[in-house]
This record gives sequence, C-alpha cells and structure tokens, in this order.
Amino acid sequence: MSTVTLTYDGKNYEYPVVEGSEGEKGIVISNLRSQTGLITLDPGYGNTGSCQSSVCFIDGDRGILRYRGYPIEQVAERARFTEVCYLLIYGKRPSVDELKDFRIKMNRHTLLHEDMKKFYEGYPPGAHPMAIMAAMFASLSSFYKETEETLDLNIARILAKSKTLAAFAYKKSIGQPLVYPRNDLSWPANFLRMMFAVPAEDYEVNPVLEDALNLLLILHADHEQNCSTSTMRMVGSSGANLFASISAAICGLWGPLHGGANQSVIEMLEAIQADGGNYKHFLDEVKDGKSKIRLMGFGHRVYKNFDPRAKVLKQTCDRVFAELGINDPLLDLAKNIEEYALHDEYFVKRKLYPNVDFYSGIIYRAMGIPTEMFTVMFTLGRLPGWIAHWMEQRRDPDNRIHRPRQIYTGETEREFEDRGTKHLPTGR
Ligand code: ACO
Repeated sequence: MSTVTLTYDGKNYEYPVVEGSEGEKGIVISNLRSQTGLITLDPGYGNTGSCQSSVCFIDGDRGILRYRGYPIEQVAERARFTEVCYLLIYGKRPSVDELKDFRIKMNRHTLLHEDMKKFYEGYPPGAHPMAIMAAMFASLSSFYKETEETLDLNIARILAKSKTLAAFAYKKSIGQPLVYPRNDLSWPANFLRMMFAVPAEDYEVNPVLEDALNLLLILHADHEQNCSTSTMRMVGSSGANLFASISAAICGLWGPLHGGANQSVIEMLEAIQADGGNYKHFLDEVKDGKSKIRLMGFGHRVYKNFDPRAKVLKQTCDRVFAELGINDPLLDLAKNIEEYALHDEYFVKRKLYPNVDFYSGIIYRAMGIPTEMFTVMFTLGRLPGWIAHWMEQRRDPDNRIHRPRQIYTGETEREFEDRGTKHLPTGR
C-alpha cells in the first residue's frame, strides 16, 4: 500500500493512500488531527473526498459519466427512467421480472393522501414550486413511518408520488383543478398528463415529449457528490429519515449555481433577446469580470471538458424541435452563444463548456413547462441518485455523523461587560 509522508514540526507522519476502482487516489487523513493537531482547509471541498461510493463515476477531464459502471450515453439510449431508478438504488440492473414488479409498485403509489391536498391551499399565488416541494417532502414523513421494513415501500412511494406532488404544485399555481394520476401510463406520460390535461378536454400524451422527458430524467438521475447529494448525505448522516433528507436536498438543489441554473439560463437568454439579441455584447460583459455576470449553463466544478449529458441533450433538442415543428429563437441564440464561447479565449482558457442545464431549459420550454418548474424537473430526475447515496450511507457500518471542522478567524477571548442591557424594559 502506498503512503504519503507529512513532515510537520520536525516529525514525519505516514498516511495511507486509498485507490478507487477507476484508479482515483486519495490520502486517508482520519487520524490527522489526533496525531498532529492539524486539520485540512479546503473551502468548497474541491479536494476533499467525503466518502467512498459505488453509485456513479465521473471523469471530468475526459467527459465521462457512468451509473454503476454503465456509460450515460448507453443508459440514455437503452433504458427507461424506472429501470435507472432501480439500477442506482439497488446497485444492479433488475431482471425483467424484477423490473415489472418495480414498475407495478411505482405505479401503484402515485396518489397523495387526500389530507395533503389541503396543504396546497395555504400557499400564496406565485409561491415558488421548489418551496412547495421541500415542504411536501418533509410532510410525507408525517404520513409514512420509516422502519427497516417500510424502507423499500417508502422508496417506491417517493418515486411514485413525486410527480403527483410536482404536478399538483403547478396546477395550484395556475388555479386549475388537480388532475389525478392514471397508473396505466409510463412515469413521464403520467406526469405530463397531470400537468397539462384539463377535465373539460381530452388529452393525449405526445410520444415525442414522453421520450424526451424520459431522457431528461435519466440524464439528471445522479452526479456523485454534488451540492444537493452532499446535503442528502450530510442530513442523512444524523439518522434523519429519507423524506426529511430529501426535503433538505431539494433546498440544496434550488440555488442558481446548482439546480436553479436551468431557470437562470432561460432568464438570461430571454434578457439577451429582449435587449436586441446582441449576445456578443453580453459575453463581453461576462468576460470583463467587473459585472460579476456569469454565462449561466456554462462551466462545471468537475467537468473541464464537455459535459456528456449536454452532448446528448443538444441532439435531443434538435430532434424534439424538428418533430414538433417548433421554431424557438432562444434555441438559435443558445447555439450562437455556445459556438462563440467554445472558440473564445476567456472560456477556452478556463475550460468552460456547456453543462447539462444549458439545453435542458430549452427542451422544458418546448414541452410547455413554465420556467419556475425547471428546478422541480431536476428534482424529479435526481431523486433516485439522492436515495441511492442515502441508502449507501445508511448501510455503511463506518457511517459517522458529518461534522467538519473550521479554522476560527474571529475575536479571541474578551470580556462581555455588564451594561445593564439585560434589564432594559421589553417592547417599544
Ligand atoms: N461564466 C463566466 N465565467 C465563469 C463561469 C461562467 N459560467 N464559470 C466559471 N467562470 C470563471 C470564474 O469567473 C473563474 O475565473 P477567474 O479564474 O478569472 O476568477 C473561473 O472561471 C473558475 O471559476 P470557479 O467559480 O472557480 O469555478 P467553480 O468550479 O467554483 O464553479 C460553477 C463551478 C459554479 C458551476 C460555475 O462554473 C458557474 O457559476 N457556472 C454558471 C452556473 C451554472 O451553470 N451552474 C450549473 C452547474 S451544473 C449543475 O449544477 C447541474
């Protein structure tokens, strides 16, 4: 076993190097503080491995993403979302019978407890659906107990009910009656129907959109220790239940630097369009650094090469638009920006390429999904990944509560003088 030697204060300390199945190496520093009194400082955790995991492999320099060893391009072409959920959560491809059983289970649990419908009534108009989703997931824990015996059932409930929760949030926001699930439909078709059907009219799910949504869900299903997944593991490490941990992960995903980026991409493209479409002027502002504007949908902490998901999505975008006969000026604008940025020194030097969010929003738009729902769509896709990581951690006998340290930079000890403020009258 190779080791790393740390020399500090005249002494040498040896730390083992652990190697993953794809040759990734890390120094095991679990004894660092007890032996040396030192901790490591790594803001943003760019060099810190928080766990060992077998769910997903990414090589950002080579643009590789694999789920349980299977390349994302093959999974995206050959699987349906339900099979990917099983693969990620249970660690193996299901047999055909296992898959059928899993599908039946996931279809059977789509209904919400009728009492949960009342929760939707309490939100003000314009409430962000991510706020509703986070609250609804935490609320599910009050309806379904978590024990070792109910865990599998709860997983099926989460995957099945998530689309109903999301579609109800949308229907509520536009004031339309809720549309109940129809369990003979596939996961994406059932969701699209609950989103867009109205009781007064017939609704046929467009197979092009059903396929595109299936693909989007698969492409978002896992991405190792990103901000929301790390949140999931962080909260789960305390023993919090699956529903509560997901609620926390949803909040982690919401921000514009993570899952909220797909919404920001469309808002950015619309703003450029409204300003006359002069994307070169916009990119000049991004590059001068003073404005602090970022080209949303570009750059990634891990990918310093093409995000493989963005490649698949760009092709899907072209297919969906051609098959639906849609002509969206924002798609042309996005393509022009991509072309320009890929040849511009600023972006090339910093290895900034389009990420999954650059094209996903444009496809959601073509489906009729409103911008505010984009991050909810990401949530629906990412659920199996979050659950897989939470389960992996729960099953790990070495799981410890996550509790990082810090380097304190505040005041050293000083006296809190008694100024009599404790006895000031309360109120005005
Ligand atoms: N536009 C312009 N410049 C950028 C961008 C961008 N989108 N992303 C990074 N840079 C620049 C930074 O200004 C910095 O330049 P400098 O070295 O001159 O200071 C350099 O590239 C490195 O950037 P960091 O912020 O250090 O990169 P980090 O790995 O911390 O950030 C992140 C990654 C947050 C994704 C970033 O690229 C970004 O903000 N992108 C836009 C938001 C986005 O699309 N997020 C979605 C990510 S994918 C996902 O969550 C599914």
